[in-house]
Amino acid sequence: MPAPQSPLPIVVLISGRGSNLQSIIDCASAGVLAVDIRAVISNRPAAAGLELARRAGIPTEVVDHTRHAERAAFDHALQACIDRYRPGLLVLAGFMRLLTPAFVTHYRGRMLNIHPSLLPALPGLDTHRRAIASGQREHGASVHFVTADMDGGPVIVQARVKVLPGDTPGQLAERVLAREHRLFPLAIQWFAEQRIFLDDNGQIVFDGLPLASPFDLDSEVVLPC
Ligand code: GRF
Repeated sequence: MPAPQSPLPIVVLISGRGSNLQSIIDCASAGVLAVDIRAVISNRPAAAGLELARRAGIPTEVVDHTRHAERAAFDHALQACIDRYRPGLLVLAGFMRLLTPAFVTHYRGRMLNIHPSLLPALPGLDTHRRAIASGQREHGASVHFVTADMDGGPVIVQARVKVLPGDTPGQLAERVLAREHRLFPLAIQWFAEQRIFLDDNGQIVFDGLPLASPFDLDSEVVLPC
């Protein structure tokens, strides 16, 4: 295995607002997340997160999915763009595109996604509304390794949020998002420290031992940022 680089070079993929990107930028600037954000890439030219990256002096790129008729051609262009920056980890922070198996295989074990639900519950879109509509008493967010199974890869760590009586999807989303901003930097830092990796059987290994079930953010030491 090649020696780890410190700080870990990462590339962040976004499609929109970029609040998770901002939390990663803030934790890295505060010195509590050992990453070098080499580039932020969006599939949407108007993604607000691109401006957040520019303000932080991070190179930005747009690989516009509407300019590629085929999903495979888009993924190919995206991969070429990403690999120019030689990341040790690819971070999907609100990247709203399905990925082809070839792309996922290329980044196997070095691609993390954050999803706004307690996976395996509620994969897919519109999770906050669906959590309320289905009467869930608890909701939250998960960070997982990305596999070909959409939102189905092995989960590293989760944050739980109570669904309150009368919650609107917007109110619930806001409380979940606040937890996401702690959750994602923590998982990325574990990866940067080589405390977690995905083994050949698709099993997460944490501190040398198989991870039987995802960590709960509330029982972990949280990064001070
Ligand atoms: C977050 O809720 C994340 O869990 C989901 O997309 C949203 C992105 O928000 N994958 P932001 O762009 O990071 O603000």
